[in-house]
Amino acid sequence: MKIIVTGAAGFIGSNLSESLLKSGHEVTGIDNLSYGSMRNIQKFLNEKNFRFIKADLKESAALEDCSGDILVHLASQKIPRYSSAMLTLNENAILLKNVLDKCLREKCKLVFASTSDIYGKNPDIPYSEKSNIVLGPTTVKRWAYAISKIYAEQLIMAYNTELDLQYTIMRFFGSYGPNQNLTWWGGPQSVFIAKALKNEPIEIHGDGMQTRTFTFVNDTVQGIEKCMFHPASKNEIFNIAANPDEEITIADLGTMIWKLINGENSEPLINFIPYSSFGNYEDVRRRVPDITKIKNMLGFKPVFSLSAGLSDTIAWQRTVKEEE
Ligand SMILES: NC(=O)c1ccc[n+]([C@@H]2O[C@H](COP(=O)([O-])OP(=O)(O)OC[C@H]3O[C@@H](n4cnc5c(N)ncnc54)[C@H](O)[C@@H]3O)[C@@H](O)[C@H]2O)c1
Repeated sequence: MKIIVTGAAGFIGSNLSESLLKSGHEVTGIDNLSYGSMRNIQKFLNEKNFRFIKADLKESAALEDCSGDILVHLASQKIPRYSSAMLTLNENAILLKNVLDKCLREKCKLVFASTSDIYGKNPDIPYSEKSNIVLGPTTVKRWAYAISKIYAEQLIMAYNTELDLQYTIMRFFGSYGPNQNLTWWGGPQSVFIAKALKNEPIEIHGDGMQTRTFTFVNDTVQGIEKCMFHPASKNEIFNIAANPDEEITIADLGTMIWKLINGENSEPLINFIPYSSFGNYEDVRRRVPDITKIKNMLGFKPVFSLSAGLSDTIAWQRTVKEEE
C-alpha cells in the first residue's frame, strides 16, 4: 500500500516508517525537523520504497506532491510544559485542517494520533474509549494539548458524518523507546535515562506518586498498524497501550531506571521539583488504560514489559550519548 506519514522523522513516525517498509509498503514521510531528526530515518532514507519530504505542514502545499491510500497524521505540538500554548492550539488546528482537506480530496483514510491526556484527571480508572473527559480549568495551560486533540477528534468525526471521511483515531499512552526525543518532549523516561547515564540526580516533578502506564514503541507500532489495516478499525477510536498492570509511579520509574543503569545495589540520586517552578501546572494523578476494545476487535497484544522495554531504550540511548 501507499502510506503518507506526517512527523516521520519524529519518535513514533520513524519507528512506524521502518516497520511499514519492512512489510513492503511504500512510505512518503513528511517532517519539518522541528522536533524530529534525520538520525531517526538515516537507516532507511535511501530505500527505494521510502521518500522523505522536508516541509512544514502549516503550508497546504506540503502535501501536494504525494499520494497515499492511508495518511497517518503524527506531526503535532504537545503539552506546553516548557513551550507555548498558542503554538499547541494554533498549529495543531492548522495541520489538522490541511490533512483533512488532503484526505477528502484523495479519498484516503486518515489515521490520527490522539492522546490519553484527553481523559484528563478523570478519577475513574481504567480509561476506556467511552470514559468521560475531566479537564482542569482553562487557566492551566497544560490542558491546551488535550483540548487540541479533543477538537481534532470531534472535527474528524464531523467530517465522517457530513463528508464521508474514513478514519481511525488512536489514543496513545506514554510511548517510549529508541528514537525518543532526549528532552522533556520525549517524556519523563527519556530525561531520567539521560540523567542516570551521567550519574546526575533524576528530577521528578511533584511528589512522584503520580502514575503512568508506559508503552514500548514496538507495541505502539503494532497498535498503529492494526488501526491502519484491520477492517474492523474503520471509523473507530482505540486506546493503544501496554497492559494495565504495567502502571508505575514516577518515583518508582526513576528508581527502576537508575538501577538498570547503575546496578541493583546503587542508591538512586533523586531530586523532587515542585510544580510551581514551571508555572501554573496541573498533573494527572493516575493514568491506566483499558485496552479491551483493541484486543477484542483488532487482535492487539502488547508484548513488552516495562523493564524489557527500558533495557532496550537504555541500550539505544547509550549509543546516542556516545555519538554526541
Ligand atoms: N510519544 C507519546 O508517548 C505520545 C503519547 C500520546 C500522543 N502522542 C501523539 O503521537 C504523535 C507522535 O508523537 P511523537 O512522540 O512521535 O512526537 P515527535 O515530536 O517525536 O514527532 C512529531 C514529529 O512531527 C514533526 N512536526 C511537528 N510540527 C510539524 C510541522 N508543522 N510540519 C512538519 N512536521 C512537523 C516534528 O518535527 C516531529 O518529528 C503526536 O501527534 C503526539 O501528540 C504521542
